[in-house]
Amino acid sequence: MSMHDDIKTVLVSEEELKAKVAQLGAQISKDYEGKNLVLVSILKGSVVFMADLMRAVSIPCSIDFMVVSSYGGSNTTTSGLVKIIKDLDGDLSGKDVLIVEDILDTGVTLSNLVPMLKMRNPNSVKICTILDKPSRRKAAIQPDYEGFQVPDEFVVGYGLDYDEKYRNLPYVGVLKPEIYEK
Ligand code: XMP
Ligand code: MG
Repeated sequence: MSMHDDIKTVLVSEEELKAKVAQLGAQISKDYEGKNLVLVSILKGSVVFMADLMRAVSIPCSIDFMVVSSYGGSNTTTSGLVKIIKDLDGDLSGKDVLIVEDILDTGVTLSNLVPMLKMRNPNSVKICTILDKPSRRKAAIQPDYEGFQVPDEFVVGYGLDYDEKYRNLPYVGVLKPEIYEK
């Protein structure tokens, strides 16, 4: 039984992802030339994008990882909605932080996380997301670098999961409805 059989439609193909990541890496390399770049991956969803993006960046940079949990909820503008489960290993002071995300959805997670990271005296904090679902946005936040806009559908693959599965799909797709109904 292959996980590919569970996919209804492919939204972003492996080839499209590859081309876009190369483009993003080249742009980031240009923009951060001479800076103190640290790529901050938000686990687990961004792990695949992070692994590809860091190899598309041609300037020296460091990497770090963070696990956060978003409480969601209706009161989306108040701070403190994000809990740090695993913090960064490194100090951010003087660093140019680029947050690497799988998808910017409501924006609640990052709109809370960005101010928390800015309190650590970095030189700058920006966002790079491979997917963007602008129709669902609740918080006033936009990515500085983005790959593809996706419609308001639950997507899996390229790091994104359904019930912890499908992260290893090499493309981004939508599951067949019967998978959710199981
Ligand atoms: P917010 O809403 O705070 O959330 O921007 C971003 C996080 O929510 C997860 N997310 C998804 N995960 N398919 C997924 O597998 C989706 O369609 C989806 N939309 C949001 C994701 O972890 C993201 O970092
Ligand atoms: Mg995520």
